[in-house]
Amino acid sequence: MDLQVVGDYREMSELGAKIVSETIQEKKNAVLGLATGSTPEGMYARLVEKYRRGDLDFKSVVTFNLDEYVGLAPDHPQSYHYYMKRNLFDHVNLDPVNISIPTSSSDETLEEACRQFDKKIEHAGGIDLQVLGIGVNGHIGFNEPAPYLKTATHLVELAEETIEANSRFFQSKEEVPRKAVTMGLGSMMAADKILLLANGKNKAPAVRDSFSGLVSTETPASLLQLHRKVTIVIDREAASLL
Ligand code: GLP
Repeated sequence: MDLQVVGDYREMSELGAKIVSETIQEKKNAVLGLATGSTPEGMYARLVEKYRRGDLDFKSVVTFNLDEYVGLAPDHPQSYHYYMKRNLFDHVNLDPVNISIPTSSSDETLEEACRQFDKKIEHAGGIDLQVLGIGVNGHIGFNEPAPYLKTATHLVELAEETIEANSRFFQSKEEVPRKAVTMGLGSMMAADKILLLANGKNKAPAVRDSFSGLVSTETPASLLQLHRKVTIVIDREAASLL
């Protein structure tokens, strides 16, 4: 595990963008696993800058997003479909056929859509670099603390802490969807490299519990300690309890 403690959010975003850029530059058709949330916004902004300067080409890049809320239309401002368009997809030359985001539909097609999503990752040859944030309860994607974790893409009930934490993006807590679809631990752990970003004091307990040397499904991010190529880029505040 390569732990990089940086000064602040800006430095975290810059180093994160550098690591993603290197993957894209090393492999023309790089497969990226992408995260949402407030944490990687700065990193995406820097990737867009690099593209505008002509330093990055997304033409053959393939992307898979980690998760999506169930029940939010793709054009809902808080959906992760919309987030990705706003932060990255609308600003770079990614080919829309190379973009995959888990389904937001809760109907009978959900299970099959999850299966197809995993198959698509497999057909792409797996993920070269998986970008992750971390929830205040140690979740990755939307894999919430539990006695067991699922390997495949699946439907989840969001934990109360997650609903609470994400309510800042909605008008009220009641508006936060209670369910989501998330990539499971299987595709993430099979990624060639993993990059986890975290910033701020509120992430310090989750960071401590995840990288303390103990592994538990009650802190899903702690399983990353079992991966051979994980880089953790966190700011001083998030590292304050390590
Ligand atoms: C969200 C997402 C995660 C994200 C995490 C932290 O609910 N499902 O992929 O990493 O929670 O979000 P933030 O970066 O806004 O703190």
